[in-house]
Amino acid sequence: MEDCIEVILEQRSWFSRHCSHNVTLLIGSAFAGVYGLWAAFCMPGLRVPFRLKVPFLPSTKEQTANVIKLLDGRKGRLADLGSGDGRLVFAASSVGFQCTGFEINSMLLAYSRSKAWWRGNDIHFIKKDFWKTDLSKYRNVTVFLAPAVMGVLEEKLLKELPEDARVIVCRFPFPRWPHSCTAGSGLNQVWAYDVHTARESSRTSPHQRQA
Ligand SMILES: C[S@@+](CC[C@H](N)C(=O)[O-])C[C@H]1O[C@@H](n2cnc3c(N)ncnc32)[C@H](O)[C@@H]1O
Repeated sequence: MEDCIEVILEQRSWFSRHCSHNVTLLIGSAFAGVYGLWAAFCMPGLRVPFRLKVPFLPSTKEQTANVIKLLDGRKGRLADLGSGDGRLVFAASSVGFQCTGFEINSMLLAYSRSKAWWRGNDIHFIKKDFWKTDLSKYRNVTVFLAPAVMGVLEEKLLKELPEDARVIVCRFPFPRWPHSCTAGSGLNQVWAYDVHTARESSRTSPHQRQA
């Protein structure tokens, strides 16, 4: 009888040693898999410097409607910086803009390109890092990025955009540019900035004069 109990105990400890090892391995692989999927779908490419990385987060319907409201009366070329699944670009295209979406994540790009092809939309989705792209031919720019990159983006756009350009920014406003108007509230708030006004203000602001 004692032998029997010892054998059972021995079997149990063998079982718990091996099983707990396998369970740890299983949980570890599941985490790695989920993170890999998230990174593949949501993170921009490896070549974007860490401080400028912005993951995918889609615009809400209300946010998109607010962007279109602040583009009212404008026309011509429009660039969406980090176009994600293309929803802002499709909305802008539907009201007559000639749209280009810059996106660095291949999965999101494949999705938005096939949607454009399926719908017969004449939209360019370009696999390019917008930080390394000359944006001087765009009179309209839409942006839904992250607070940490907005100051750097102000400087780039101030150098490149034409005088009559308008930039529509979602959720995280520019830190220094004065906005011309705004729509919505909370997470759906968007701001419109006119480059002419931003340039004027940067010439007269103390920050600019000290430099
Ligand atoms: C917050 S999402 C916004 C997506 C879309 N514009 C929208 O409003 O639904 C930001 C997107 O920018 C892309 N992105 C981030 N950095 C980029 C870069 N340097 N060049 C191109 N795309 C970039 C990300 O992959 C992500 O899809």
